[in-house]
Amino acid sequence: MPKDTILILNFGGQYTQLIARRVRQHHVYSQVIPYSASLEEIKSYEPRGIIFSGGPSSVLDADAPRCASGIFELGIPVLGICYGMQLMGHLLGGRVEAADKREYGLVNVKMNHLCSLFADTDARNACWMSHTYQVTALPDGFETVASSDSCPIAAMANREKRLYGVQFHPEVTHTQNGMSMLKRFLFDVCGCAGDWEMGSYAQQQIGAIREAVGKDTVLLGLSGGVDSAVAAALLSKAIGDQLTCVFVDHGFLRKDEFEQVRDVFTHTFKTRLIAVDARAHFMDRLRGVADPETKRKIIGREFVEVFKEESRKLGKLDHFAQGTIYPDVIESGAVQGSHVIKSHHNVGGLPAELGFTTLIEPLRMLFKDEVRQLGIALGLPAALVWRQPFPGPGLAIRVMGELTEEKVAIVRESDAILREEIAQAGIDRDISQYFTVLTGTRSVGVMGDERTYDYAVAIRAVTTDDFMTADWYRIPYDTLALISRRIVNEVKHVNRVLLDVTTKPPASVEWE
Ligand code: XMP
Repeated sequence: MPKDTILILNFGGQYTQLIARRVRQHHVYSQVIPYSASLEEIKSYEPRGIIFSGGPSSVLDADAPRCASGIFELGIPVLGICYGMQLMGHLLGGRVEAADKREYGLVNVKMNHLCSLFADTDARNACWMSHTYQVTALPDGFETVASSDSCPIAAMANREKRLYGVQFHPEVTHTQNGMSMLKRFLFDVCGCAGDWEMGSYAQQQIGAIREAVGKDTVLLGLSGGVDSAVAAALLSKAIGDQLTCVFVDHGFLRKDEFEQVRDVFTHTFKTRLIAVDARAHFMDRLRGVADPETKRKIIGREFVEVFKEESRKLGKLDHFAQGTIYPDVIESGAVQGSHVIKSHHNVGGLPAELGFTTLIEPLRMLFKDEVRQLGIALGLPAALVWRQPFPGPGLAIRVMGELTEEKVAIVRESDAILREEIAQAGIDRDISQYFTVLTGTRSVGVMGDERTYDYAVAIRAVTTDDFMTADWYRIPYDTLALISRRIVNEVKHVNRVLLDVTTKPPASVEWE
């Protein structure tokens, strides 16, 4: 357990994950736990401070989510955000009422600089609000430390007991100086040192994995993704050749990806790597299939089959490892503390199919950006660590309709050119995901003196925080011109390049 931990009690707010990330961005370890955690559980973390998240409920409802009673008497600083502030107000004897109307958006808030949280804010500071209820009378011992026209108690504080409540959301980037409010809470109020960093986390995890795994053996499925690669690197450092990695090439990986991953895990990290060339197998099963969902299902099913076959050859291994990351854990509601090896009655998907009942998920407490930092700290090449997200079915869902080797080669080659030019333009880290799609359309063109009738390739590039919504990225025209010219010149059977300018929703990121 890191030296300083901030616990975040999750009351179901949409920004809970964001609060956890913001705290870690200040180099303080944070962990999200359910609001219903007992006082004993809370104490077992020896937290430096506690943050109550927002949430959709009203504290006035009989069945409103509440924290363990006695939490305010632990002597641990608490910051309540939105619902969290209302709950604090309500439980400590203040009054909470519905406001005349829901307050949503940026609001001008008057701040009291004598409150430690607001030492760096402007006297009138724009804050992000999203609430219907609000504290209308302070609990004993509290004072008002921020106010707005429609929310006279926009923040409250009991300095002596180190209890703070803010009606607005400091974790949201729209809130001006929000990061420094959190910083003040973490450092000035809770006394955190801010020394959480990936190098020491890696060492600590390596120790924990060694202890938990002992002499057991572990199987890990490498995919084209960042997470499984980082999990493999970590496990390899911890348990060496007790780890076996299986990497299946279904034929829909990006250009050079198979070789890149294979080389890293045989040379830089000397793991037992079983690299399976299943390209022909997948193509056989998919020939003639045009429906996107059927394609996905076949790929998923065959992946399990190939993996099963390979693991049968390996004999019985003790544990299955996978690169589950923290957002998946929070999303699934399983936010309790993690043990290195989990015995699982509800192991799903591949591990269950393979007969494993225990899982090792060494990244389950990390956010994506932290997984990347960890990868770098472990010595993985930057090019591998900074790869974009890539769907399991890979390029197969970027060829519209029926697959042929030739069509897959067209997306693979055009995607490689796109990636090269995006990197060359220095915008690769500004775009969340970018790739080419082989549209089902063919059109007439001229090349030299000849009439052509060839494929149109589309460019998809998006920015997003969470992939639930996305905007299309404005690639500069000159870069687009270069990409287009190179694709039609270098990729056979392409005579037209299109740009996808659709947001998600209504479009999805992938085309199939
Ligand atoms: P959509 O197309 O749903 O994509 O807007 C959102 C994100 O999810 C990725 N994606 C997948 N990832 N297996 C995966 O591991 C899949 O089957 C899959 N389908 C979509 C997509 O690349 C984007 O990042």
